[in-house]
Amino acid sequence: MRTQVAIIGAGPSGLLLGQLLHKAGIDNIVIERQTGEYVLGRIRAGILEQITTDLLREAGVGQRLDAEGTVHHSIELVFAGTRHAIDVHGLTGGSVVTAYGQTEMTRDLMEARSAANLPTIYEAANVEVLDYDSNNPRVRYQKDGQTHEIACDFIAGCDGFHGVCRASVPKGAITEFEKVYPFGWLGVLADVPPVSPHAIVYANSERGFALCSMRSLTRSRYYVQCPLDDKVEDWSDQRFWDELRLRLDPEMASRVITGPTIEKSIAPLRSFVAEPMRFGRMFLAGDAAHIVPPTGAKGLNLAASDVKYLSGAFIEYYRDKTSAGIDSYSERCLRRVWKAERFSWWLTTLMHRFPDTAGFGQKIQEAELDYVVNSEAMSRSLAENYVGLPLNFGER
Ligand code: APR
Ligand code: PHB
Repeated sequence: MRTQVAIIGAGPSGLLLGQLLHKAGIDNIVIERQTGEYVLGRIRAGILEQITTDLLREAGVGQRLDAEGTVHHSIELVFAGTRHAIDVHGLTGGSVVTAYGQTEMTRDLMEARSAANLPTIYEAANVEVLDYDSNNPRVRYQKDGQTHEIACDFIAGCDGFHGVCRASVPKGAITEFEKVYPFGWLGVLADVPPVSPHAIVYANSERGFALCSMRSLTRSRYYVQCPLDDKVEDWSDQRFWDELRLRLDPEMASRVITGPTIEKSIAPLRSFVAEPMRFGRMFLAGDAAHIVPPTGAKGLNLAASDVKYLSGAFIEYYRDKTSAGIDSYSERCLRRVWKAERFSWWLTTLMHRFPDTAGFGQKIQEAELDYVVNSEAMSRSLAENYVGLPLNFGER
């Protein structure tokens, strides 16, 4: 088998890249370790920047997003028992974010891929990326007991944090930066109307952080900060709802509608960046190259901006016969990635209770929260990062 771009991973990065390349007439094959149902079963993020929604429309999968996504003009910060609105739309000259589940976005991309008859190999075992530092890269995998090989011009490593692409690079050729936070998020999904259908709510309370989000007007997504060694079994639905209410302001707490949870899981919080994001003819995109703590809702959006740069670079290569985009890919991505890492770290630090930051650290956090909501400059800085910095930010 031969293709122009072999894409490892059928998560949002891989599928979106495949769709954009297809639109530009560039052949690609997606190779995924799991089944499609398994990929769709993972509950993940749900807040899309305008850059991401524009890209989905460009890829031809904006229809259901436009019909079913919920546009948010603001976010709310809760601390010291009081709620403060940040008018993200007003502060950024009209930008918004849209609540639309990553699962739904993935489903739309999968459907578009099969409607266009594009090749996707699910349940590919033991995927190997070979000779990516030559002009003839190959991808080898096993399926149904047989070994297969795909020859290609480029490999796109869209295979997430635990993928094979980054792991195949010699240790000396890659630098990894990591920060692990001393707590996790317990997240639940429930088919109840969201307490705040028009704004995502971030709460910093004495009992820890809480977040109120949504997937639709009938499906809520909520999180509370919890110790890393907590087990999901320790958290009955009743305990979760009681804890969530205790972390919100009294008015909002009284409006939370509870019901049976349909998903409950605990995730650790981490920042991670691998540099560079290009190794010869292999390119990393999305979680394969970087992880952010979820506080800024940047993970999925960074994956989308990597894919925008990468698809543009490939299109330039094939259409305009120039390697300029390919050569600048890693640097361009990392510049944006580190801004999002900074923002996610900042918002995480601002909104959580840290086990070792009593006294001075706590007072500084309180002062900063007061500053953020009362200074237009600080509110605007929060807002412009929240909606996503422009793709060409800082470029001359
Ligand atoms: N071979 C083939 N496929 C693999 C391999 C492998 N060795 N390892 C991992 N994969 C697949 C995974 O099964 C998964 O479907 O690669 C895909 C990676 O998808 P994601 O982890 O979703 O990563 P990405 O597409 O970059 O999505 C960005 O943004 O909201 C965040 O973390 C969230 O998943 C989200 C991410
Ligand atoms: C979510 O809806 O899952 C969500 C929203 C905002 C965040 C993180 C997650 O910052």
